[in-house]
Amino acid sequence: MTTRGRVFLLDDDDLIVSMLARALSGEGYEVRPETDPEGAVDKIRQFSPDVVLLDIKMPGASGMEILKEITGQAPGTQVVMLTSDDSANTAVTAMKLGAVDYLTKPFDIDEVKIVVASIMQKASLMHEVEYLRRVTADLTHKELLGTSPAINELKARAEKLAAAGVPTVLITGESGSGKEVMARFIHALMHRGAAGGRAPFIGINCAALPEPLIESELFGHEAGAFTDAKADKTGIFELASKGSILLDEIGEMKSSLQAKLLRVLEERTVRHVGGKHDIPVGATVFATTNRDLEAAVDKGEFRIDLYHRLNTFALHMPPLRDRSEDVLELARHFLIFFSAKYNRTLIKRFSPEVDKLLAAYAWPGNVRELRNVMERIVVLEAGEQVLPEHLPKEILRAKALGGAAETGAAYLLPETGLSLDGVEKDLILQALGRSGGNKIRAASLLGITYDSLRYQIKRFGLQHLKKGDP
Ligand SMILES: Nc1ncnc2c1ncn2[C@@H]1O[C@H](COP(=O)(O)OP(=O)(O)OP(=O)(O)O)[C@@H](O)[C@H]1O
Ligand SMILES: [Mg+2]
Repeated sequence: MTTRGRVFLLDDDDLIVSMLARALSGEGYEVRPETDPEGAVDKIRQFSPDVVLLDIKMPGASGMEILKEITGQAPGTQVVMLTSDDSANTAVTAMKLGAVDYLTKPFDIDEVKIVVASIMQKASLMHEVEYLRRVTADLTHKELLGTSPAINELKARAEKLAAAGVPTVLITGESGSGKEVMARFIHALMHRGAAGGRAPFIGINCAALPEPLIESELFGHEAGAFTDAKADKTGIFELASKGSILLDEIGEMKSSLQAKLLRVLEERTVRHVGGKHDIPVGATVFATTNRDLEAAVDKGEFRIDLYHRLNTFALHMPPLRDRSEDVLELARHFLIFFSAKYNRTLIKRFSPEVDKLLAAYAWPGNVRELRNVMERIVVLEAGEQVLPEHLPKEILRAKALGGAAETGAAYLLPETGLSLDGVEKDLILQALGRSGGNKIRAASLLGITYDSLRYQIKRFGLQHLKKGDP
């Protein structure tokens, strides 16, 4: 069962606890009601709630002590104090100790619901920020692999940008083409050496969060800057001041925020939301997008001034289908990587047919798709070599269609080129074969007139062909 979140309730008053428990369960929360303060901190740790509603005054125990322990042990836990009128002062102290809010008895049930709901919502957004950060950190290889001319050229340019210490780099390219890998590559070049390993690289996805939250994530905020701003918050620009920031999906950033970002990039200072001081910005800013920013500018969806600012130093990651030389190297790398990760015996090689299939496939999901295909093979297959039947259907299907389906072309020109005459002759022979030598039917199979078929037959010297020959 999915719930809207978990609430731990502790109050020595049975009636209050059961009333709150009923109201909150009715809202879809998973509620753990408790009336005994004994061992409360352990119980809270086990239940791992999103929100704790905690009575301040209980016989033989102080809610304040419990609060201190919780905030010490599980700093993310959101605690709301339950107070009587006469303990309002204590409530203020509790907020200083890290409680997020307080509710005064007798409770207005609607108020309780609103307070809990707003904390849940904020917590889930914070989790998302954390999650997005973690995901980008985990899934990305540190190395930039590939030896195709396109990648070699990009690496050379990356070296130059890193050596110059440029303040911003725009990295464009299709999804999964390695934009983040490139950003991390340049970051690593910029921070070579012993201390460099600790230079922070912090990413944020501009599309995933609502604007006010992104703004305070990026720039930080001052306590009281807006309703939920209970304490000062340091923004990513400051956190990464000696390292790099990745603004992922910059193309999705709202226009008003684009203006603020431009100001930061031009002046190289940030100001907290609600703050008065300019804080210098030292971080390199990488902006990535799979959108055509120029087109977005034309449509009025992206600010032209910000576009020019970002585009000063720009790199484009080519799609994997345009650098088939890299496919096999990457495939091999991922095969080894996942064999080690899953502790599997390494499948030694790709069959020649698989080599061809991998190089001919159009990889709409680019390197990420290739990586996923290899991960699946490592987990599900075993043996001496990777065989065509180990590959996903879409790769085999592309081959059945002559590799044409993915490129949009009706026929795929082989890497090595071909003889157009040879192809024509071949098709004419096939048409004659299929029509049993009947030239009228053969012409109609080829979509040409009887006369042009006769001409072609002469041209290729096929006149003397007997019925049923080909
Ligand atoms: N040149 C490369 N060398 C090694 N791994 C790569 C390379 N390019 C991409 N990858 C791998 O492919 C996956 C996708 O790469 P990345 O996250 O950089 O793509 P992206 O262009 O940022 O994609 P999106 O637009 O979806 O965010 C990652 O797992 C990454 O490790
Ligand atoms: Mg990315």
